[in-house]
Amino acid sequence: MKTLSLVGARPQFVKEAIFNLAVREANAWQHVLVHSGQHYDINMSDVFFQELEIPKPDYFMGIGSGTHGAMTAAALTAMEDILIQEKPDQLIVYGDTNTTLAGCLAAVKLGIPVAHIEAGLRQTPTTMPEEINRRMVDSVASSYFCTSALAVENLRKEGKVEHVYDVGDVMYDLYLRMENKFQSSEYLEKYNLCSGDFVVVTMHRDFNVDTPETLTEILKGLVAVRETLGKEILFFMHPRTKACINRFELMPLLAGITVHDPIGYIELMSLVQASFAVVTDSGGLQKEAYFAGKRSLVVMPDTCWKELLDCNWNFLIAPDATDFLEKAQLLAEKQEYPKSIYGKGDACKSIVAYLQK
Ligand code: UD1
Repeated sequence: MKTLSLVGARPQFVKEAIFNLAVREANAWQHVLVHSGQHYDINMSDVFFQELEIPKPDYFMGIGSGTHGAMTAAALTAMEDILIQEKPDQLIVYGDTNTTLAGCLAAVKLGIPVAHIEAGLRQTPTTMPEEINRRMVDSVASSYFCTSALAVENLRKEGKVEHVYDVGDVMYDLYLRMENKFQSSEYLEKYNLCSGDFVVVTMHRDFNVDTPETLTEILKGLVAVRETLGKEILFFMHPRTKACINRFELMPLLAGITVHDPIGYIELMSLVQASFAVVTDSGGLQKEAYFAGKRSLVVMPDTCWKELLDCNWNFLIAPDATDFLEKAQLLAEKQEYPKSIYGKGDACKSIVAYLQK
């Protein structure tokens, strides 16, 4: 059997890292890897391949940045050529990016079955680019690998019941596999921090960073969190956010916030493990913080990781400085750790076994 796996953006590199390893360990099939090039900076792409030892992609499409239509179209066209040449038995796609949608469309039109890892996640608003991508991919995929019973239930409500598997989260597999490489003390020294004395921040969603009013509230909110909790704010800034801050001339609002460029998986996880809490709009990080036993304020109107809200582990917050201040206080309250929400750490093994069948 030959399988083609498609990645392109940060969250997909981490998922491919552990899945690729599971395929190699099981000697399961010929695994062709394609990188769309949606993320291309060294610290947005190369760092993950290096530190997570992901094999060099067999194809690099180099689509780069652009409008949603331009990016999706470029990836769709390039992917079609690759699929025609490689003739895989199956395409594997992860999550909800423009790369995911493009690859899926190219494959289904050629009659190639698509396996969707992280299927069935749903969140509002339904107009969010990622939500549009998820729904489109789930409407035509052939097999659905879900992170929890909730995702299975979401698919059932949409009439999808066959080839739907609750396997757990491949990102939890990766976290467990890499845990012995997290070096909190080394990075605490690098950033001159003490354990538990800082909050890790990431922010990149269009609805949070693309308008000056919203971004202003978020930056003021982060300063409010710093003052309320008495913790340093360590902000690893996505290039999109950095560009918006410069364009809107909001640099003065960064006083009191420590800003760095994005970092790789091992460095980020090492710091999260030693942090007090996380503030983010990243789908992956709100869950990785939970794996590390840390709570998150999630700057989104909704999240697809609803299980973590239901047990009051994570909280949604509005892009509003007052809300930041109020919800930051909730982080200081004691809360029992909710165990095993996203599987047992054997998701990749289960997916490989199902696809082999
Ligand atoms: C994409 C995904 C999002 C995911 C995120 C992780 C979609 C619709 N969204 O959002 O689900 O959470 O990746 O980071 O696919 N840029 C660079 N260098 C890079 C990559 C991007 O400078 O290596 C800048 C460019 O200005 C670009 C902007 O960031 O226009 C946004 O990048 P894009 O890939 O469109 O979306 P993300 O916001 O990264």
